[in-house]
Amino acid sequence: MGLQEEVQKRKTFAIISHPDAGKTTMTEKLLLQGNLIRSAGTVKGKKSGKFATSDWMEIEKQRGISVTSSVMNFEYEGFKVNILDTPGHEDFSEDTYRTLTAVDSVVMIIDATKGIEAQTIKLFKVCKMRGIPIFTFINKLDRESREPLDLMDQIEEVLNIETYPMNWPVGMGKRFLGILDRYHNQFIQFNGNEEETYIDLEKMDLPENKAISDNPTYQETLEELELLNEAGDQFSLDRVLAGEQTPVFFGSALAPFGVEVFFDTFVKLAPAPGPRRTKEEVIHPDYPDFSGFIFKIQANMNPQHRDRIAFLRVCSGRFERGMNVQLARTGKTIRLGQTQQFVASSRDTVEEAYPGDIIGIYDPGSYRIGDTLLDGKKSFEYNELPSFPPELFQRVSAKNVMKAKQFRKGIEQLVQEGAIQLFRGYPTDSYIIGAVGQLQYEVFQHRMKNEYNVEVMLESIGDRIPRWLKKEQVNPGIFDERNLLVKDRDDEFLVLFKNDFALRWFIDKHSDIELIDLFEVNQYDQSTE
Ligand code: G4P
Repeated sequence: MGLQEEVQKRKTFAIISHPDAGKTTMTEKLLLQGNLIRSAGTVKGKKSGKFATSDWMEIEKQRGISVTSSVMNFEYEGFKVNILDTPGHEDFSEDTYRTLTAVDSVVMIIDATKGIEAQTIKLFKVCKMRGIPIFTFINKLDRESREPLDLMDQIEEVLNIETYPMNWPVGMGKRFLGILDRYHNQFIQFNGNEEETYIDLEKMDLPENKAISDNPTYQETLEELELLNEAGDQFSLDRVLAGEQTPVFFGSALAPFGVEVFFDTFVKLAPAPGPRRTKEEVIHPDYPDFSGFIFKIQANMNPQHRDRIAFLRVCSGRFERGMNVQLARTGKTIRLGQTQQFVASSRDTVEEAYPGDIIGIYDPGSYRIGDTLLDGKKSFEYNELPSFPPELFQRVSAKNVMKAKQFRKGIEQLVQEGAIQLFRGYPTDSYIIGAVGQLQYEVFQHRMKNEYNVEVMLESIGDRIPRWLKKEQVNPGIFDERNLLVKDRDDEFLVLFKNDFALRWFIDKHSDIELIDLFEVNQYDQSTE
């Protein structure tokens, strides 16, 4: 098979959702469909106390959550599917955001009884702002849910995106009859624990289907659909691929109901791996030479080996185990001998990989987040991954001052891995670490103790609003605890404002100082257009 065909076969995506919306259940059903697991409950067994092998770290076991993002791949309907798992905890971290740089689309799962929940708005918005195609699955239709039209309105309003319902629920909760599949012109009947049945819409008037088609709930749904056809947006694959319209599917991951039709449609419509921008040009996946970038580094996945694994997304050409590649940042040649692919329950050695695939490579400490690896005559570097400005900050120090050396080493490595962000007080030089979620601190504390044998003290300085500013505008005299001046790892200055009020007060008082919000700036860095 040629390179182009291999690329077209691949669908690389992440499932994003608020905790408890049903991401694990959905992932499990997809793995079942891909014949990757034989029985449900293998991915995560909260009740049985069994934990998935993707829960690498101790802390994950203790809390029964998935902290690190894992990758699963399987064949489905002729496609090669790569699912990147993102932490489902509400204290998601930068890993979650960075994972989004390695996917071509996302599946957004929303709990129909709750709608979009506050903590996940930012995650969804990051996808929208980065122009990633979003496919929506509205879950738990077997329960009394919010009105479908309300849910659509909410998605449109919060994400500023058009919605196109691919199917429409007929009733909900106890009155749930099934879904009208607009895209395939069929009715899919919900049969409780039994398998769903498919009926052509043209055949709904036949005597054997009268029980459904005469049902007032079914009739009401037909009327609703007519309204939708007249007033709603038209389906446009171009707009979907541009991240401007989201196809919406209703169903129940648990039943499972509507999952198969959702996934069949998804694999057909979701984009294959696309081009990526480097500092000078755009590299297409069918560019013949191998290239890829590292979006995640995970230390000590196997406590016995204390190894580090770098996750690389293949962007062009063909990867082959044992090949020599160049680390673009340093020009160093590296042989990629130890490479792994991640399947739900095991790590397998990977012999070859194509654009869209994610491989794990053994990291002797040479890699950084965002590094480009390539093979070929031409050298280039993919655009830097956006670093997401943290919102939570803590002062950190070693409990035992005699451990200063290990303390610095631990922090340095964890920062390099992207587990936390480090800032230095100015001019005090104190250590301040930043995170996007509280959980990152727990992981940090745990790893400093277990991997570097240092107990750390954390002193919260609370939620802060970070704004960067230009060196020449820095006058240390005007800053204090409420608007704390610090430096980031690139020696750029920023101010950590205690709250909105402090920020506005500062802007009023120092209108000559330009403040930069990196969250807004970073979203556009990687687009290829
Ligand atoms: P998450 O990964 O997004 O956190 O969600 P997860 O799949 O763990 O699902 C959260 C809860 O919602 C689970 O129940 C799960 O069984 C339930 N759930 C998922 N999909 C559906 C659905 O379509 N309908 C209904 N009614 N429930 C659904 P739990 O009791 O909290 O967990 P468990 O003890 O069963 O694992």
